[in-house]
Amino acid sequence: MNSMRGLCAIRGNLAFAPAPGALTTIADGYILTRDGIVEGVFNRLPPHCQAEVINYGDSIITPAFTDMHLHAPQFPMLGLGMDLQLLDWLNVYTFPMEARFGNLEYAKTVYRQLAKELIRRGTTRVCAFSSLHREATHVLMEQLEKAGVTGYVGKVNMDRNSSPELMETTEESLAETRRFIQECNVYPHLKPIITPRFTPSCTDTLLEGLGKLAEEFPEVPIQSHLSENPDEIAWVRDLHPDCQEYWQTYHKFGLWKRGTIMAHCVHSSPEERAAMKEHGIWAVHCPDSNTNVASGIAPLRRMLEEGLQVGLGSDIAGGAKLSMPDVATEAIRVSKLRWLLSGKEEAFLTVREAFYLITTAGQAYFGAKPGFGQGEPLHAVVFNDSRFAYNPAITLEERLERILYLGDKATISAVYSAGRLVEI
Ligand code: GUN
Ligand code: FE
Repeated sequence: MNSMRGLCAIRGNLAFAPAPGALTTIADGYILTRDGIVEGVFNRLPPHCQAEVINYGDSIITPAFTDMHLHAPQFPMLGLGMDLQLLDWLNVYTFPMEARFGNLEYAKTVYRQLAKELIRRGTTRVCAFSSLHREATHVLMEQLEKAGVTGYVGKVNMDRNSSPELMETTEESLAETRRFIQECNVYPHLKPIITPRFTPSCTDTLLEGLGKLAEEFPEVPIQSHLSENPDEIAWVRDLHPDCQEYWQTYHKFGLWKRGTIMAHCVHSSPEERAAMKEHGIWAVHCPDSNTNVASGIAPLRRMLEEGLQVGLGSDIAGGAKLSMPDVATEAIRVSKLRWLLSGKEEAFLTVREAFYLITTAGQAYFGAKPGFGQGEPLHAVVFNDSRFAYNPAITLEERLERILYLGDKATISAVYSAGRLVEI
């Protein structure tokens, strides 16, 4: 890992999304950094600039990607077990997989590989679920930190409706979460996040206790799942007859707060979406997962039009694509199906919008400005697209489109995370 001391000018074709549907491209431009902090973006270097130039030639440089929802302990089942819907999928494949993370050696092997694969794919910020194991969650954070991945990591809470190998008592769950939060100050680039798996996995006492923890640690955000699958929603209704809607099961325990992240929202009602908007909740759209475990197609266009804060997530291993460009193009594909199914009412997602969601929108969750924000540590990806079909007539914007659709880790030649050049 290279900490980029002094003044550096990173040279190449720059592309970023200043707003939804907008794209800025700068041919042969420069990102000027001092000690890894962005000083500005330029068409040409200021006169007499003493910066060390790092020249990426004809490559395209974009902001690095944010994966707003992934399950780290599901990495070993990536690309497996897609024949069941959510509740059976959890019981048959997922819970047995996560139970293995009681073994710290196993956890280290998996998490070292995952952290490296995230960086190789240009993902430098994550909102990650670990398993319920506190110690393995620290192993995950150590490996993410080592590879250069930043963001939020949650020790999962679950004290009911799982298998005996993957269950905590309520007291254990709360005590381990408190301890976990208090232990996290050792990580320079990672923070804890309160992570009730979803309502059916948590007793009322646990949810209530987590709500109190959230109040006690107001800087620690909350993440969970919401309205992913119709059977799940019906189950939540049975478990909480006093709540008309799923979101209220989080709200009544103080877990529905500004900055709370809710994955999926595929079947959220207009009222549930209005409650998200009113309370500043983030919806994370996970299109590949929603297709794989046959949950449905989330009404992304409606969420965007209603002004919800939306990001994208890989949701591995419901999702089988770890690369955020793959998730972005999957979001476009499923939005086209919704467009057709809606009689062309709900406009499909554009490439510019999808690019915005995996860069600017995700960055915003972390308080970062669009693009390569001045005064902020650099997060950037360098793409060398020279191996794609020879086509000198295409524009920078078209090259970006092609990178999103065809690119894989082999297209990425350098990654900057939190002001450091990281090893890929
Ligand atoms: N709901 C509760 N747990 C999970 C999970 O691990 N993956 C997905 N996709 N949904 C969930
Ligand atoms: Fe998930």
